[in-house]
Amino acid sequence: MSERVTGDLEDILQSARDLLQDAVVTYRGRPVGTKAACNPRFEVAFNYSECFVRDFVSVALVHLADGKPEIVRNFLLAVDDVCSRGERMAGQDLHPGVMLASFRVESEHGEERLRADFGNRAIGRVAPVDSMMWWAVLLLVYQRATGDIGLAQKPEFQRRLELSLDLCLKASFEVFPTLLVPDGCCMIDRRMGVYGHPLEIQALFGALLDVGLSLLEPSKENQSLLERAAQRQEVLKSYVRERYWLDRTRLTEIHRFKTEEFGSTSVNALNIHPDSMPEWVSDWLPDECGYMVGNLGPGRIDFRFFALGNLLAVLFALATEDHATNLFRLYDKRWKDLVGDAPLRITYPAVVDDEWRVLTGSDPKNTPWSYHNGGSWPVLLWPFVAGALRAGRRDLAQRAFDQVAARCAAEDWPEYYDGHQGSLVGRYANLRQVWSASGLLASHQLLHRPEILKWLQVDSAVRKSAKGD
Ligand code: GLC
Repeated sequence: MSERVTGDLEDILQSARDLLQDAVVTYRGRPVGTKAACNPRFEVAFNYSECFVRDFVSVALVHLADGKPEIVRNFLLAVDDVCSRGERMAGQDLHPGVMLASFRVESEHGEERLRADFGNRAIGRVAPVDSMMWWAVLLLVYQRATGDIGLAQKPEFQRRLELSLDLCLKASFEVFPTLLVPDGCCMIDRRMGVYGHPLEIQALFGALLDVGLSLLEPSKENQSLLERAAQRQEVLKSYVRERYWLDRTRLTEIHRFKTEEFGSTSVNALNIHPDSMPEWVSDWLPDECGYMVGNLGPGRIDFRFFALGNLLAVLFALATEDHATNLFRLYDKRWKDLVGDAPLRITYPAVVDDEWRVLTGSDPKNTPWSYHNGGSWPVLLWPFVAGALRAGRRDLAQRAFDQVAARCAAEDWPEYYDGHQGSLVGRYANLRQVWSASGLLASHQLLHRPEILKWLQVDSAVRKSAKGD
């Protein structure tokens, strides 16, 4: 470990475990989740005392790895239960497949009840799309870790998986196999130009399809749903692999694209104008390296590097093995930009000046090289470690782990860091941010227990019969 480590590793891990313990939320006497942060800086906003689905995933991994599945089971049950109540908001019935972003426990007349946020209370009213996907992944991970196949087979859980698939596979106005979503619907839950077909959601969508195909018991009623899921998975995979992947060969192709092509044989089907390629890309992207672009739509490639989307694409095998190798080679060659002093950069590069004004709506929390706009997030360590191990780059996984361990505990588990190198604790960052601690603990387990990586490989679970072969 680097010389910046202020305590030994055991003390650091213990400090993380203590934070996870302090964060536990109980409901009617049972642990049911964890708060997002134990020292929320913005008491007014209050949302960091809620249990977020995406935040809980790494906490759950830690509990499962420690052989303590109870809180995970309770969490899966509670979230499903609250989401099954049927909500009506803004003059519409919420599709029953929509899953809450977060919940909290409230007391009414001496009785506890769970209060959900489906985006109707969230800052900016952002709708969560990733929750149902993370919930499904967690259900599979729980099953693999505990051997308890009964939970996923419960009728309400089978129904929940069907509802999620049904919602995502619904016929719509779309002409792409990727999922169309609003801004702020995933980890980046503020306006950041993420609307459309962001990579993070496509990787999670692919994972949801795999989990559905593996955990749903085939029946007459769900036969057509499973067939649609299997077909969509195939098309989604090849579309993302071909169109999102960017390396020097592809850059040259885009640079020389013809435009205004009509018809089914067009090469530049999305009518991408070569001049829309930002100047930084061609100098920055080394040979034999590559990554998946952040977003793709009509006339639009978002060339920014989004860490979580790329890492999940590797972890959930939306990326090929060659892609994974070249992505981690990019991490190696561009370590300063993508990892810096405080792993790991959430997006690269930051948007600045007019682009920042237009894209973020002049958001002071998302100023350049801060928060979602090029800030550095310790929680990204666990998908990095998992992806790097899957890609055979244990060296990079260990290097990033050492960097997070060296800083985070000493600085009291900041939510994120600011600056080109991530050298400052984020201006508005919470301290005692729970997923910063669980990310480190989960990474430590991943590095030392190979079976944990296998729990997360959703693609290896898909039944052959469901794919029709
Ligand atoms: C911020 C993050 C979001 C996270 C929440 C709670 O809003 O952007 O991804 O779930 O905080 O930690």
